[in-house]
Amino acid sequence: MRTAVVPQFGLDHLAVIERPEPTPGPGQVVVAVKAVSLNYRDLMVVRGQYNPRMPLPRVPCSDCAGEVLAVGDDVLSVKPGDRVCGTFMQNWADGSLSESAAKSALGGAIDGVLAEKVVLNAGGVVPVPPHLSFAEAATLPCAAVTAWNALTTDFNPAGKTVLLQGTGGVSVFALQFATALGAKVLITSGRDDKLKRALDMGAAAGVNYQQTPDWDKWARQQTGGVGVDLVVEVGGAGTLERSVKATRHGGRVALIGVLSGAGTFDPLPLLMKGITLRGIFVGSRAMFEAMNTTITRHAIRPVIDRVFGWDEVKEAFRHLEGAGHFGKVVVNVG
Ligand SMILES: NC(=O)c1ccc[n+]([C@@H]2O[C@H](COP(=O)([O-])OP(=O)(O)OC[C@H]3O[C@@H](n4cnc5c(N)ncnc54)[C@H](OP(=O)(O)O)[C@@H]3O)[C@@H](O)[C@H]2O)c1
Repeated sequence: MRTAVVPQFGLDHLAVIERPEPTPGPGQVVVAVKAVSLNYRDLMVVRGQYNPRMPLPRVPCSDCAGEVLAVGDDVLSVKPGDRVCGTFMQNWADGSLSESAAKSALGGAIDGVLAEKVVLNAGGVVPVPPHLSFAEAATLPCAAVTAWNALTTDFNPAGKTVLLQGTGGVSVFALQFATALGAKVLITSGRDDKLKRALDMGAAAGVNYQQTPDWDKWARQQTGGVGVDLVVEVGGAGTLERSVKATRHGGRVALIGVLSGAGTFDPLPLLMKGITLRGIFVGSRAMFEAMNTTITRHAIRPVIDRVFGWDEVKEAFRHLEGAGHFGKVVVNVG
């Protein structure tokens, strides 16, 4: 079966090789993968930026959807033919994140899913929402669950103002969930055409962070000088200070990404405004299932920017690297 591997770091080295067909052990399932979606993290893994000491070769990518082919003798929760997504962390069922759960992250700590067949834990799969295609469902495990975690853990978005950064995978899901749950969304982007798309999808207002570098001021103006209730922070060190300035007293910043590279951060405004800064590492299976209930109830369809084939795996990564996308980049596998 075809499997993508990172034999050494660098996108040029990414290779598609043949590997033996897997069989399920106790507590495991084999999934015939139909589609895989890419995350910025996968690009970092391939480049060697995610964990430079990662043992190689490594199968990249965390996000897949497919059909269960076979299950271990003791597995009762899943059966052949079920349409499933893998969970980002194979061992995080519920509750707060543990070290052992973090060490079960697909395509990082352990081999990932960019292959025609994968072995997953029976507890590490969730049913695909019925109205979604495999390509759509493949976009959910990392970006969507992360956005869901940021918006719903210890926070009720209804009636609140949420600031989103850019229009990549996490932010577009956050836009869809936040509007479905009754929040007012402010969004930034480096491109006006993407801002227009975000407004068409329900964002209340948008600003181009290239043309308006003090977008924190803009966000405060949009809230009558008060500041937003929550920032879904995907920029990281280079945007965090402005995110804190954009947030109201007693508000929250969900710290998710590292897109902006290096930067400095003055912690004083954080404490003077009593802001909660919460680090997020995707989410649990329970969060995934709760999110799927909302996706089904609101008939939410993930936004797919482009779908690539097996022969275009490197191109798919380059497309993500180019940051021209809006929403998710998918590889059709099955
Ligand atoms: N902690 C976690 O569990 C977790 C989970 C998922 C993702 N992440 C991280 O979150 C970040 C986003 O991931 P993703 O998969 O959504 O990435 P992505 O799809 O590659 O998103 C890239 C987009 O982000 C926007 N962007 C880039 N630099 C920016 C900046 N300085 N300020 C504001 N927006 C900027 C751009 O949108 P525009 O063209 O519209 O400007 C760009 O197209 C990454 O750092 C990723 O590693 C973390």
